[in-house]
Amino acid sequence: MEIDYKNQNNNSIGVLNDLFEIDYIFENEPIKRTFEEPNFKDKQFSLEKLKNIISEVSNCDLKKNASKIVFSDGDPQSPIMIVGEGPGQKEDELGKPFVGDAGVLLNKMLEAINIKRPNVYITNVVNYRPPNNRKPEPSEINKYSVFLREHINIIDPKILILMGSTAMEALFGQTLKISKERGKWKEIIVNQKTYQTILTFHPAYLLRQPDQKKYSWNDLKMIRKRIDELKISI
Ligand code: URA
Repeated sequence: MEIDYKNQNNNSIGVLNDLFEIDYIFENEPIKRTFEEPNFKDKQFSLEKLKNIISEVSNCDLKKNASKIVFSDGDPQSPIMIVGEGPGQKEDELGKPFVGDAGVLLNKMLEAINIKRPNVYITNVVNYRPPNNRKPEPSEINKYSVFLREHINIIDPKILILMGSTAMEALFGQTLKISKERGKWKEIIVNQKTYQTILTFHPAYLLRQPDQKKYSWNDLKMIRKRIDELKISI
């Protein structure tokens, strides 16, 4: 079965064979319509399955040049999911996102709003290091955005934080400008569920442009406020 993923503007962004090979079972039992939180085991299983699918991606220059897949870090049960751009050298070496200089700053940014890094879930748009740390091409962003959407669907966070233009483009298309869109709450629909999403500058950009940190600080305070309003415990 093929799934035709659409972005917010109803444009097709890619076709993927059914990730989960759902079997439809018809039984003489009442259908259970109550909503249940996916349990930890289900999530782990789905994440493993997604990771395997990404590790078998073919025809991909990113994968060819990288030493290993960089899938995610943190707590899959977290109400907060953070999406960056793609692995750098350190991440490629260690197989974990945000472990280099940008990761050190990300940890400090989280601490500034009283969040410990192990309590969030972190991933990137692309799961393989782009050669020479170049920005992923639009075609690569589109290709991996299908996996990212599935990743969001599995984690099912209460708040989604998109860091930098690549994460923004993966979910909102190429037309927006991060400098204009950061610091605003937006809604993104993934698999028929609406997620509260905020765009903010990427920590690597802040390392290059420290004068922009004041805007990120505003964004971080907005995130803390929303966490408190929603009574999210983290
Ligand atoms: N930059 C990113 O976007 N992701 C990482 O994992 C590291 C640096």
